[in-house]
Amino acid sequence: MRRLSHTAATPADSVGQAIVRCARALSAARVYFGHGTADARDEAAELVFFVAGLPHSRGASAYEQPLKPRTTARINQLLQRRIDERVPLPYLTHRAFFAGLELYVDERVLVPRSPIAELVMHRFAPWSQARRVRRVLDIGTGSGAIALACAKAFPRAHVDAADISTPALQVCRRNARRLGLQQRVSVLHSDYFSGVTGRRYDIIVSNPPYVGRAEMRTLPPEYRHEPKLGLASGRDGLDSVRAILAGARSHLVDEGILVVEVGNSEAALLRAYPHLPYIWPRIAMGGEGVFVLKARDL
Ligand SMILES: C[S@@+](CC[C@H](N)C(=O)[O-])C[C@H]1O[C@@H](n2cnc3c(N)ncnc32)[C@H](O)[C@@H]1O
Repeated sequence: MRRLSHTAATPADSVGQAIVRCARALSAARVYFGHGTADARDEAAELVFFVAGLPHSRGASAYEQPLKPRTTARINQLLQRRIDERVPLPYLTHRAFFAGLELYVDERVLVPRSPIAELVMHRFAPWSQARRVRRVLDIGTGSGAIALACAKAFPRAHVDAADISTPALQVCRRNARRLGLQQRVSVLHSDYFSGVTGRRYDIIVSNPPYVGRAEMRTLPPEYRHEPKLGLASGRDGLDSVRAILAGARSHLVDEGILVVEVGNSEAALLRAYPHLPYIWPRIAMGGEGVFVLKARDL
């Protein structure tokens, strides 16, 4: 494979210089951002800090620090793979950040990036009364990102983390153990609600697959590294959402809420279910297409 000129060894790279160099290379290669980082600079910083073993809390104070040639070589190696193979960075570093948690990820799970993170951090206020929350269900939990963040946000709650993918559940279990949350998070194999028959929840939350057939064909190459089961959802992208809407009422307590991300399948949802009284929370960190429905309105 041809070596890229920007990855040629630069003997005395400092952290800051390496970030600038990597950011330029990522921009020039026109890779797609959006798997946990917002732009070239953000992604370059994560790459360099990861390889150098620096915590992000050091921020710019680490920029003058010189890098060992071995570290520079490793940065270059990962940068090259990121560009040549279009692998999302979290699959190269095996880490992703979500709602303040550091998670292990690999290609068995979608890279966590749901804007639901922000709602969890606000404990779904004002639609949910945090101190009353005892049971939460996360449908399509993948790495466990949302389920584990909920377990942190609601210390008195038990969370069921459900997914149809056995490989994804292995990753979820690993994350639950890493975060010491395995006592309060049950990792369940479930086709939507099949594994939770008879249970009722205060909150059902889901970032299900919601990409329609036509859109699947237009996704940037980075998405091909993610499990198709985590993305594709029938012709109009609504297969999963239909199943969740059909089963949610009988699995929610009367005061419960349903929170679902539908991304840009929002328009298709509004056509298919025009009469539901959706609440579309404004999400400051960006991202859209997350609705809240009260159990009584389902
Ligand atoms: C978009 S990913 C979201 C993963 C994770 N919740 C997140 O936000 O990062 C959707 C997840 O739904 C799971 N899934 C797909 N079909 C399912 C089904 N019928 N029942 C349960 N989970 C399903 C996939 O395996 C995948 O992990």
